[in-house]
Amino acid sequence: MTDKQPSAATPGNGNGNGTPPRQTRRVRKNLLSQQAAAYLASLTPTEPPAVAALRAATAALPEAFFQMSPAQAALLVVLLRTTGARRFLEIGTFTGITTLTAALAMPPDGQVVTLDIDPRYPAIGQPFWAEAGVTDRIRLMIGPARHSLASLMADTGRTETPKFDVVLIDADKEGYPDYYEAALALLRPGGLVLLDNVLWRGRVLDPEDDGSKPRLFRRLNKTICRDPRVDASLLAIGDGLIVACKRP
Ligand SMILES: C[S@@+](CC[C@H](N)C(=O)[O-])C[C@H]1O[C@@H](n2cnc3c(N)ncnc32)[C@H](O)[C@@H]1O
Repeated sequence: MTDKQPSAATPGNGNGNGTPPRQTRRVRKNLLSQQAAAYLASLTPTEPPAVAALRAATAALPEAFFQMSPAQAALLVVLLRTTGARRFLEIGTFTGITTLTAALAMPPDGQVVTLDIDPRYPAIGQPFWAEAGVTDRIRLMIGPARHSLASLMADTGRTETPKFDVVLIDADKEGYPDYYEAALALLRPGGLVLLDNVLWRGRVLDPEDDGSKPRLFRRLNKTICRDPRVDASLLAIGDGLIVACKRP
């Protein structure tokens, strides 16, 4: 959700290199007008108590803005339910708000596999997963996502392990192109891959902004929206979200 992911060694910093982000980068977390965002928020369903409690705990962190908004989480629930998802893969756990949301939205035999490089963020969420009674539905893999994805691909190749129904990509942005390819390999036909932050707080829309992230997302968004392997739609929700359905 941010231009600067903290390194594993500096949680709590929220910036990573000590350079304050430009004011425009800090404030533009939602592409909608304040009025539209407030209206949307007023219609967003109340979250389960365990999710609301984890949001309250997460709010105390300097990186609280990493978390998906309740409106995005509501969309995730709709997508999980409409696809009948039982296997959800998340790249970028943070404190596990989306992890918990997905575990509660799927049937009791559903499984969430969630990947993060830094164990200290998911450790904040784990007591809330336990309180909600879904710990046994969640497999947390700690380490660089590239390594965890390689291990999941090896599992899928070796055994009858079912593929994933939905994959959410929300970790380091430089990894997105590789994570997208891995997601397609791990998804069942008809499954969905979701990529968060693809409008990068509107900076992607400014052709004069040649920052590394806007350039990365311009390239990637074009690639995915023209990819013959998927049907894709880019939604201006939150910080921009691509929803792409893997073709049979
Ligand atoms: C934007 S947050 C995820 C937010 C989460 N989906 C939510 O809505 O609460 C991104 C997470 O990706 C993790 N991350 C950053 N680089 C990573 C990497 N190379 N491999 C795995 N996780 C990484 C960070 O530690 C951070 O917790």
